[in-house]
Amino acid sequence: MIKRPRGVLYIITCATPAAHEIGKLVSLAQESNWAPCVIATPSALSFIDQAAIEQQTGYPVRSQYKKPGTPDILPPADAMIVGGASFNTINKWAAGISDTLALGLLTEAIGLGIPLVALPFVNSAHAAHPAFDRSVETLRAAGVNVLLGPEGYKPHPPHEGSKKLASYPWQAAIAALPPDAPDAAG
Ligand SMILES: Cc1cc2nc3c(=O)[nH]c(=O)nc-3n(C[C@H](O)[C@H](O)[C@H](O)COP(=O)(O)O)c2cc1C
Repeated sequence: MIKRPRGVLYIITCATPAAHEIGKLVSLAQESNWAPCVIATPSALSFIDQAAIEQQTGYPVRSQYKKPGTPDILPPADAMIVGGASFNTINKWAAGISDTLALGLLTEAIGLGIPLVALPFVNSAHAAHPAFDRSVETLRAAGVNVLLGPEGYKPHPPHEGSKKLASYPWQAAIAALPPDAPDAAG
């Protein structure tokens, strides 16, 4: 296992253009002394360079539930960031749906008390859907730090997502993590 003083960080990514650049979040996490592992939604696999991320993190990229009875291949998480959080995953997470590994980890993590940060990557038309505000409110009430608005991501105009990649606030997601993961220092 790759040991780092702040603990293991699950970086969960969704099928949005931000997933193309998930390696940036991996680098920032490593510079901040986290050991990041990447979990992709099944749809996000076509947005990422899986081999490059596995080389960068030293861990396999997971996207599917394991087979019953087989061991976990990732160490347990001390914190999680959903980076490039899609409209779809945010709404399903808030609704308690766990039909992907990413959602299973996220829905369970609320009850486990694991520090959770969500950095959305959604357009303004999706953000205007009534379900979206409700989902963000539900997640915030459950303790998830949703970085939406001035301190995080301002939804982009439809079809202009790729123009926002250069200024996507990956660093804000790292800054929102607790300074020390419980039990990770010892
Ligand atoms: C090229 C492309 C760009 C997309 N951009 C976004 C986006 O910026 N935000 C978003 O929420 N969904 C976006 N989508 C739609 C998601 O991929 C789709 O809702 C998918 O079901 C999300 O699945 P996931 O939440 O399991 O990753 C995009 C899809 C494609 C093919």
